[in-house]
Amino acid sequence: MRNIEIVASPEALAARAVALTVAAANQAIAARGRFMVALTGGSTPERAYTVLADAHIDWSKTYIFTEDDRDVPIDDPRSNFGLARRTLIDRIDIPAGNVFPMVTTPGNPAASAEAYIDILRRLFPGETVPSFDMIHLGMGDDGHTASLFPGHPSVHVVDRWVVSGPPGTLPPPVDRVTFTLPLLNAARQVLFLVSGDKKAQMVHEILDEQASVDSHPAGGVDPLNGTVTWLLDEGAATKLVTPRG
Ligand code: 6PG
Repeated sequence: MRNIEIVASPEALAARAVALTVAAANQAIAARGRFMVALTGGSTPERAYTVLADAHIDWSKTYIFTEDDRDVPIDDPRSNFGLARRTLIDRIDIPAGNVFPMVTTPGNPAASAEAYIDILRRLFPGETVPSFDMIHLGMGDDGHTASLFPGHPSVHVVDRWVVSGPPGTLPPPVDRVTFTLPLLNAARQVLFLVSGDKKAQMVHEILDEQASVDSHPAGGVDPLNGTVTWLLDEGAATKLVTPRG
């Protein structure tokens, strides 16, 4: 199922993302005793994660992953896990064993991808494809999401949960490690955080025109048994014609 929510500003987007995340955490912990969440990189979530650090979530029952990362050490300013650590993880009371950086062997992204698959197997025993309670995603103005870039073979991978790949269209030119569409689409909830009018054309092409997944990878995110929410600010929604809500 797909929801589209539009809020007035980037600040409102962060507040709404936090509210949805707190609700997902409470629901998951009540139902299954834990909250499995994968965070995103990029500039849009930074504000949300800073606000999330002050939210009331049982962090001892929360397990934090990232759904893609650059092949750099976690203390590199370009690391998505580093962003999550600075804005959120270092500011909350979460056991060290509950957080899972994706890049464990910088310089060997294929090995980091393999190691992450092993972690997922251990944390989601018996699941054919791990089902995260919530995955946060951003979308680039070229239609990529996570590190699934337009026209790249990783968009079409169906037999692996996590893969490595070459740099996409965005700087810096370092390799990537990323969840694949089958893993994203096994989530209970996916939350896109999309801000700014630079994204408006892509939002229109994906949500109004059902553009192809190969050219618009973000459009391939549509959980089989879950929900995808496109949380947009007014700028990102400028060209949207699909009914909202
Ligand atoms: C990354 C991402 C990427 C990001 C989009 C949108 O590592 O950069 O995970 O998929 O979410 O590029 O980024 P912005 O929110 O900065 O536009």
